[in-house]
Amino acid sequence: MEVLVTYYSQTGNTKIIAEAIHEIASQNNDSTLKDFKDLKVEELDNYDLVFLGSACHHADLAPPVLRFVEKIPESPKFKLAGFVTHSTYTPEGSERHAEFFEQWASKCSKTYEKLQTEKSVDYKGYFRCMGVPSKPIEGFIHAQIITDEDEWAEYLNVIVKHPNEIDVENAKKFAKEILDKC
Ligand SMILES: Cc1cc2nc3c(=O)[nH]c(=O)nc-3n(C[C@H](O)[C@H](O)[C@H](O)COP(=O)(O)O)c2cc1C
Repeated sequence: MEVLVTYYSQTGNTKIIAEAIHEIASQNNDSTLKDFKDLKVEELDNYDLVFLGSACHHADLAPPVLRFVEKIPESPKFKLAGFVTHSTYTPEGSERHAEFFEQWASKCSKTYEKLQTEKSVDYKGYFRCMGVPSKPIEGFIHAQIITDEDEWAEYLNVIVKHPNEIDVENAKKFAKEILDKC
């Protein structure tokens, strides 16, 4: 298969995940790793499978990625899988973490899913993991979202490690699953 792994990443977290996916995709396929900013929507038709990655911005895919997916035509020939890094907690940890996730990152997967229902994209699945925020975003989170100092200390302790080795391994498993499905 011709596989494209493309990613929108300002501070490198999503790129780490893209590289892990590309490593797996390269094993038995012709895989191209490409920064999203060098990608044109017409190029997608050169591929059988596209892994499209984005940092989560403003609780959804980053605005340039949102604009890009709008341009994807109806019933394209390529299959699609999505991946995202986000700085809010994953929902599994506790009810509170699930609330944060719901508010600040859950829309990303729904945006990919909508491509299936609205544009008949053959959508194969989604991967997400946490990614350490840049200093300005860290400041925003502390000022607006996690204001309690104990909670903040806990958050910093967790987030600073991501994407970690486990995230990378999980991304590789995800890539294998998607490739098997195709
Ligand atoms: C402008 C901006 C807005 C962001 N908004 C969110 C958000 O709403 N929810 C979230 O979980 N993370 C948010 N983040 C944090 C990033 O999603 C997270 O740090 C991500 O791992 C960055 O990926 P990158 O290093 O590939 O750019 C935001 C980051 C930026 C720069």
